[in-house]
Amino acid sequence: MASVFLPLLAATGAALAAKFSPSDITHSTTFGNILPNKFIVEVDSAQYIPGRRAIDARRPHDVVYEHLQQRELLYTVDKEFDSPGLFTGSVLTLDNAHDVAKVREIPGVKAIRPVTIIPPPKPTKKYVPSGPSDPQVPADSESTHIITNVDKLHAQGILGQGIKIGIIDTGVDYTNPSLGGAFGAGHKIVGGHDFVGDAYNGDIDPTSTNSPTPDNDPLDQCNGHGTHVAGIIGADPGNPFNISGVAYQASINAYRIFGCSGSVSDDIIVEALLQGYNDGNDILTLSLGGSDGWTESSSSVVSSRIAAAGRIVTIAAGNDGAVGSWYSSSPGNAINAISVASLDNTIIPLQNLTVSGVTHDPITYFSALPLPVKDTLPLYAISKDVTITDDACNPLPDSTPDLSKYVVLVRRGSCAFTQKLGNIAAKGGKVTLIYDNGNGFAGIEVGNYTAVLIQAADGTFLAQQLAAGKQISVTFPQSGASTSFPDPHGGLISDFTTYGPSNDFHFKPAIAAPGGNILSTYPVPMGTYAVLSGTSMATPFMAGVSALLFQTRGKNADVGRNARTIFETTAQRVPSSKTDGDPLQTVTQQGAGLVDAFKAVHSEVFVSPSELITNDTAHYKSIHTFSVKNNGKSTKNFKITHHPAGTALTFQKGAPAPGPVPLSAQAASVEFFPSSLTIWPGFSETVVVVIKPPKGLNSTDNPVFSGFLEIANADESYHVTYLGLAAALKDTHVVDNTDIFFGVQIPAIFDANSNVVNTTKNFTFQGTDFPSIVSRLSFGTALLRFDLVQPDIKLTTSLSKRDGVHVFERRDYTFPWDEKPNTFAKVQTIGSLFSATYQPRNSNQNDGTGFNNIALSLPQFANGTKIANGAYRVLLRALKVTGDPTREEDFESWLSLVIGIQA
Ligand SMILES: *[C@@H]1O[C@H](CO)[C@@H](O)[C@H](O)[C@H]1NC(C)=O
Ligand SMILES: *[C@@H]1O[C@H](CO)[C@@H](O)[C@H](O)[C@H]1NC(C)=O
Ligand SMILES: *[C@@H]1O[C@H](CO)[C@@H](O)[C@H](O)[C@H]1NC(C)=O
Ligand SMILES: *[C@@H]1O[C@H](CO)[C@@H](O)[C@H](O)[C@H]1NC(C)=O
Ligand SMILES: *[C@@H]1O[C@H](CO)[C@@H](O)[C@H](O)[C@H]1NC(C)=O
Ligand SMILES: *[C@@H]1O[C@H](CO)[C@@H](O)[C@H](O)[C@H]1NC(C)=O
Ligand SMILES: *[C@@H]1O[C@H](CO)[C@@H](O)[C@H](O)[C@H]1NC(C)=O
Ligand SMILES: *[C@@H]1O[C@H](CO)[C@@H](O)[C@H](O)[C@H]1NC(C)=O
Repeated sequence: MASVFLPLLAATGAALAAKFSPSDITHSTTFGNILPNKFIVEVDSAQYIPGRRAIDARRPHDVVYEHLQQRELLYTVDKEFDSPGLFTGSVLTLDNAHDVAKVREIPGVKAIRPVTIIPPPKPTKKYVPSGPSDPQVPADSESTHIITNVDKLHAQGILGQGIKIGIIDTGVDYTNPSLGGAFGAGHKIVGGHDFVGDAYNGDIDPTSTNSPTPDNDPLDQCNGHGTHVAGIIGADPGNPFNISGVAYQASINAYRIFGCSGSVSDDIIVEALLQGYNDGNDILTLSLGGSDGWTESSSSVVSSRIAAAGRIVTIAAGNDGAVGSWYSSSPGNAINAISVASLDNTIIPLQNLTVSGVTHDPITYFSALPLPVKDTLPLYAISKDVTITDDACNPLPDSTPDLSKYVVLVRRGSCAFTQKLGNIAAKGGKVTLIYDNGNGFAGIEVGNYTAVLIQAADGTFLAQQLAAGKQISVTFPQSGASTSFPDPHGGLISDFTTYGPSNDFHFKPAIAAPGGNILSTYPVPMGTYAVLSGTSMATPFMAGVSALLFQTRGKNADVGRNARTIFETTAQRVPSSKTDGDPLQTVTQQGAGLVDAFKAVHSEVFVSPSELITNDTAHYKSIHTFSVKNNGKSTKNFKITHHPAGTALTFQKGAPAPGPVPLSAQAASVEFFPSSLTIWPGFSETVVVVIKPPKGLNSTDNPVFSGFLEIANADESYHVTYLGLAAALKDTHVVDNTDIFFGVQIPAIFDANSNVVNTTKNFTFQGTDFPSIVSRLSFGTALLRFDLVQPDIKLTTSLSKRDGVHVFERRDYTFPWDEKPNTFAKVQTIGSLFSATYQPRNSNQNDGTGFNNIALSLPQFANGTKIANGAYRVLLRALKVTGDPTREEDFESWLSLVIGIQA
């Protein structure tokens, strides 16, 4: 469910189509990335002190195993966790997944959670130089340090000395000279562990022999992500690219949990978190995660406990901004961790090319490093029509010359960049300039072609000059042509940042840091340096700032526990656009704002709490207080003012609004008493705040309102941040029952030919003659069940009835819920086909996250018992958010038409 976070760049800039086709439904279960039959069992360690001599000195693990044996349950112990106070338990593989309900009843078992799979990193556009001997130096690699005031701390010699940071990622290439060049005590990368090995890919296929091969060397020379992360924290200055890490004198432990490619399972993240804690790291940082919406996954829970123990845990918010709200990532939404949003760098280190044959200034192209083209080449335009919409989308005509001797000019639009470049390559083209058509000047995904984007005005000029008969030549200077391009979106929250809040209404993300267009270290065999974007890049930045905080304020649990409050109250508010009058960006995407490292480290004022959460209208808390403590040596006076942020209209027409989420200027009304403060040195004052939701909004849009109360005088300012929902979560529709995505109404049962089953039908379970049930969640649910019921059941379901036929389930993936036999939430059932807790909502993208399918390939209940031949209906139930699982009326429900099982 989680991956290393890198943004996906849309190839054409066209909006992603929302429609799926029934032929996208494969006949295999795709539902939550849950590892078959594997569970993380947490045991109560309250009575357990390792090594103690007592009457019952058995380990709590062993007590549980004895119970399992007494009950004749078949299991294998895959792994044990033994960190009393944080996490004690085991990873078990149960022969029968249904036994999980019995395991839960064993005294001493605190919780059982499924093991989720973390899919592979998303592709990204990256720029890699040919090697450190390339002379080009981006002119201002330190702009990220300037906008966050890290440079001022560096000027004071505060560089992270004495602080230990654990990076949980793909490993690190410590042979990179900027990362110390070597591994072990006395070097920058002081230690760590490889939990997986190169070949590990976390394959979900239970028959796969893919298993981790751990060792003590976290070297990564094949993936690269963790090396980039490490440089943001720790790159030594004096390198050819003139970059430095935020805390480059801190020590780093590298915990490698991804192989060269592929996924990882959540139990390995837990293992790395616990080792990172036990190794004494002051800070743990994780640039990974996956859509979840809930704060309950094992890795979220453990991250949160480590943060509560006084270490600082920074975790990426995620790169799913395009999917809209209520899609928060796990473990980034761990309750006590610091979830990090990305801010676009104010400048982008780009390159210029020069043209001859016409008079024109150098032309900036979107690459941090020069294209490796040494010769001056003539320019050839595929089309001289500067309004063409499908330039080079089709094979080029026979009249096209051999393009290998040219730099090719082509206009963006209507097909993927790689399609254009393939057609150009078919005529020998090797180097291509793509000019923008108004979609935006950005890094583009061009595979392994040599091609870059230039701006619309430059491309139009060149095409028009060629049309006028001019001969133009192009040169890509290999040095001295770096330019600091002012990013028009610079200083704003990166669009890709995942929106909060969590479904249980926690404040996510917490804080923003620079993450868009970041130059950092890379594995030596992969280029040594690279430019990447993502909340993955913002997260280590916050880990670095955390090191500067610990170094200055003291390395102790109090500073660790207060870190998020300090960062949030000293942050800089970020607008939603550069247009005057537009509101501040919603707190659900910017958190409390852009980190101000200098203010956080040195402020003499402590404001707490930093987050005022009203929750939804059904659980509304309107009255809050916060205190302002003066730790300075002189009396301070402050005035308090209200700065509302845009209200996020998170739903449109009953479905989550895709990002960028529309904002309304209708703000909450906030009163506070008193509105000015005089605070003597060493004293604190309390402010009472009353927050009322905005008026005039439609609650079906699930408006999430937010804003800031600023506490300021002429010299200094702080803020507390508030967040609330002008609707009740329980009113939010959970199960998609529209035909928007498939053209037929869902939930629905599909047959082997991907046709919707709309009349009573018998399934034989011969070959592919079995039912597949397809559903989508518009909103998260804490409990989702599919039960088989009698065909003549008398039940009013909440979703419109269509007779469908079904039955499905997939035994291995089931995560049963405690229940009395044959009844659930007062409804008679025959047996469970599938159930799962804490499910995320689906996205609107057809990439495996857009819908769920349960393929009932065998006529079996979830526990593997055969379903007798006969006629049945399937009852789908999804618990509404904040609903009570024992109340039938708190579920949305859908009943299939009668299906026959004739196996
Ligand atoms: C390198 O960065 C420093 C600031 O950290 C700046 O003063 C210096 O001019 C830069 N050097 C180059 C070659 O860009
Ligand atoms: C790069 O090109 C831009 C646009 O013509 C120009 O403003 C800038 O000065 C150039 N920089 C360099 C280093 O050539
Ligand atoms: C470019 O990528 C394609 C497909 O990914 C591959 O077949 C081809 O060999 C690659 N070419 C080079 C030069 O790496
Ligand atoms: C919001 O209210 C729900 C329902 O009472 C509760 O479960 C949740 O924890 C609350 N969220 C916060 C952040 O207090
Ligand atoms: C609120 O929005 C819903 C769904 O778009 C619509 O049916 C309803 O009429 C709206 N209510 C008001 C008061 O505008
Ligand atoms: C039933 O489904 C078939 C395709 O499987 C479709 O052709 C037919 O129109 C549907 N009938 C109704 C009443 O929806
Ligand atoms: C399904 O099979 C049963 C038992 O053979 C039979 O009674 C029933 O008519 C069949 N239903 C359909 C729709 O074919
Ligand atoms: C499996 O589930 C079915 C339906 O709930 C039940 O009748 C059966 O007893 C269960 N089998 C086992 C071995 O628990």
